[in-house]
Amino acid sequence: MCGIVAYTGPREAYPVILKGLKRLEYRGYDSAGVALLNSGLQVFKKKGKVAELEEALLGKNLHALTGIGHTRWATHGEPSDRNAHPHRSSNGKLAMVHNGIIENYALLKRELQNKGYHFESDTDTEVLLKFIEDIHGHHNGSLEEAVRIALKRIVGAYVIILIDEDNPDTLIAARKGSPLVIGIGKGEHFLASDASPIVEYTKEVVYINDYEIAIVKPDELILKNLGNEKVTPFITKLDMELAAIEKGGFDHFMLKEIFEQPTTIFDCLRGRLDASAGTIRMSGVDDNLDMLTNARRIIMVACGTSWHAGLVAEYVFEELCRIPVEVEYASEFRYRNPVIQTGDVIIAISQSGETADTLVAIDKAKEQGAFIFGVVNVVGSSIARVSHAGAHTHAGPEIGVASTKAFTAQLAVLYMIALKLGYAKGTIGMERYTHLINELHMVPEKVATVLESSSRIKELAEKYKDSTDFLYLGRGFNFPVALEGALKLKEISYIHAEGYPAAEMKHGPIALVEETLPVVFVATKDAYHEKLVSNAQEIKARRGKVVAVITEDDPVFTEIADDTMSVPAADELIAPMLGVIPLQLLAYYIGLAKGLDVDKPRNLAKSVTVE
Ligand code: F6R
Repeated sequence: MCGIVAYTGPREAYPVILKGLKRLEYRGYDSAGVALLNSGLQVFKKKGKVAELEEALLGKNLHALTGIGHTRWATHGEPSDRNAHPHRSSNGKLAMVHNGIIENYALLKRELQNKGYHFESDTDTEVLLKFIEDIHGHHNGSLEEAVRIALKRIVGAYVIILIDEDNPDTLIAARKGSPLVIGIGKGEHFLASDASPIVEYTKEVVYINDYEIAIVKPDELILKNLGNEKVTPFITKLDMELAAIEKGGFDHFMLKEIFEQPTTIFDCLRGRLDASAGTIRMSGVDDNLDMLTNARRIIMVACGTSWHAGLVAEYVFEELCRIPVEVEYASEFRYRNPVIQTGDVIIAISQSGETADTLVAIDKAKEQGAFIFGVVNVVGSSIARVSHAGAHTHAGPEIGVASTKAFTAQLAVLYMIALKLGYAKGTIGMERYTHLINELHMVPEKVATVLESSSRIKELAEKYKDSTDFLYLGRGFNFPVALEGALKLKEISYIHAEGYPAAEMKHGPIALVEETLPVVFVATKDAYHEKLVSNAQEIKARRGKVVAVITEDDPVFTEIADDTMSVPAADELIAPMLGVIPLQLLAYYIGLAKGLDVDKPRNLAKSVTVE
């Protein structure tokens, strides 16, 4: 949700910042801007994608060794040139970019207006900048001190970076609740919302913590807390390759990430699951085995696609571990007064590790004594750091805004945890344990087989692309897959789609069924298969179109359905990892057929760091 990037050092700042903004564009793409320091401060900003800013700046003198940039996902104020970042102080000497929300901005704005300040934008960011400017003007101290004083009064979440005409090579940055990484180069520093703009230049990074202020010069990085005490920067090595954040010959990141799944699932299992020895090793689980096996209850907390992974896990954990599981939307959980008791374990699931609702839900549960286990993709992210223990999903950077490979990696991790706990508790025996380990081991190969049928799914996308509504149905382990299929379609193609438990259809949605409604069944072979056959017959009897994800060689469903997409046979517990793949492809190809920007669907952002 908004990407920020900054540079100070001997290179030309603009190309570094521009490339960084393109890499961060998945975080928001309503508008973009840069502030560059040469002999004076220049600010350029524009509504639209980063490419539009780039085009507008062609031919301009952009020479600068220090600069900041921003790509926006609008919160306060519509996407427009004037609401785009960077914002500028009244005296024109400061510029600032911001990711987050300043909750008490209205009060501060009134105070500043009473002092005679004027505002050019509708943003909370301009208010914070002018608040800092006001303090700076009244204290004879440094800009850093003004930032510190200002932030003590701020309610909300932020990462800010300021550039100052009077101190041309110094950037001041601060964070609370939104992410900030600083890359350490030789006589240069790179600042960004995540490591993707940095990895090309250096692998040494410092993740800034909440309530820290960074004073960044080309050859010096000073970290302080809000009490003005120095903090030693903790340098970590980035485990990320440049190739992982490039398209690698695919037309879109989403397609690349769908096709990466045999590898990402394999990477997730590698070093943990040993099919020949029949073992699973996960240090986050092994080190906390007592706590986890004795959990009174497990609460999965997540949003969006990650919530769907939690829902699959609910079925799997209850089946294998006999531990009661609840799956909560983080945004609801945080505002309820949830009953948390000793022995409750929270499993927080998040690709980005930065989702604001999930982070706050964790804080709330932690305050009440719950043990937090994070299932997170981005190493070093906020959720990974606030969890008591966890397991990374190792899916690599996910750039396409719609989550695909992160989902299957989350499932892989959650299955392994459930298997370990079930076996340790004795709720599953050795035979089932080793059988499911083998089933998991075979998933990457089976996913590769599903991907071979992508051209068939492309044909189906052409056939159904003009439908205005879709219904997705599944039962048991496949019900969350139906929800995920519907979410993918909505996000990428802007077609209205609903996911439902197949049997619930009779209690309302069946009224929607008519000749023009495609009903997508997630109908891989499982204990409910015959029931699903009946549900599909009910749709056909009302002249609806049945499109089904089936296990290969399923003559019954092949006969009923208008169209099928098949996946290899698998244990019913594991089948969601296969069944979701054709649905990801269907959404992708329908979006493509409609000529939409599948990597950057309208109104969305990859990392939702505001509530
Ligand atoms: C869907 C999607 C979102 C995210 C949700 C949670 O394709 O990408 O629904 O799943 O915003 O994000 P994370 O997993 O980063 O917490």
